[in-house]
Amino acid sequence: MPIFVGMSSSNNIIVAIDGYSSTGKSTLAKALAQSLDYGYIDTGAMYRATTLFLLRHNMDFNDMGAIQKALFAIQIQFRPGKDGNRTFLNGEDVEDEIRTMPVSAKVSEVAAVPLVRRAMVAQQQAMAKERGFVMDGRDIGTVVFKDAELKLFLTADPVVRLKRRYDELIKRGIEITEEAVLANLEHRDHIDSTREDSPLRKASDAIELDNTNLTPEQQLEIAYKYAMDRIEQTV
Ligand code: DC
Repeated sequence: MPIFVGMSSSNNIIVAIDGYSSTGKSTLAKALAQSLDYGYIDTGAMYRATTLFLLRHNMDFNDMGAIQKALFAIQIQFRPGKDGNRTFLNGEDVEDEIRTMPVSAKVSEVAAVPLVRRAMVAQQQAMAKERGFVMDGRDIGTVVFKDAELKLFLTADPVVRLKRRYDELIKRGIEITEEAVLANLEHRDHIDSTREDSPLRKASDAIELDNTNLTPEQQLEIAYKYAMDRIEQTV
């Protein structure tokens, strides 16, 4: 097992973790951030919180004027909770609600809107400007932190991805069928990888990590070694 140490700020790096839905990005990102004593930013949660706001206000996703106004009215924060960070939307804890199906069904449409992306990317860059962060999403290595010292692109067998997402939703107490979960994963993968603005791509300098047959601990061990290598090179 890796030896977990806190890093001095002089050689802090950015670890960018990208990949399709349910490839275990947030599990790895959270664990790696904890091991390195880094901050963790779940950028998907920011798109989800924005989607929740637009849904609650019955807003038309094609009305750019309304979306611009909404973006001014939205404040997203992460605050530490019992099981890791929780997402707050204008001071309200929305961590559970942003994982529900109504939000999952619409988030890719909202995340494809360039105005929304510009606002989220600017916030993400500001949050991690001191480095010392692990950030997961779809465009971290290609857009948000093109200069990230370590870029990982996660992949996993579709059957394993489906099972992981289904189990996660059931654990959260959400009633759902495997068919509905599969349809949502396919829908989001399609929109996320074919949208015009910053589609999901593996950055040319990203390391691909297929975790189909890896336990979370094994995956963490591999990622931790890569991170320590990069940290040692960044003095
Ligand atoms: O990681 P997630 O499944 O919670 O992300 C929700 C959606 O947000 C996902 O379908 C695509 C979008 N997203 C994005 O476009 N860019 C990011 N950096 C993170 C998420």
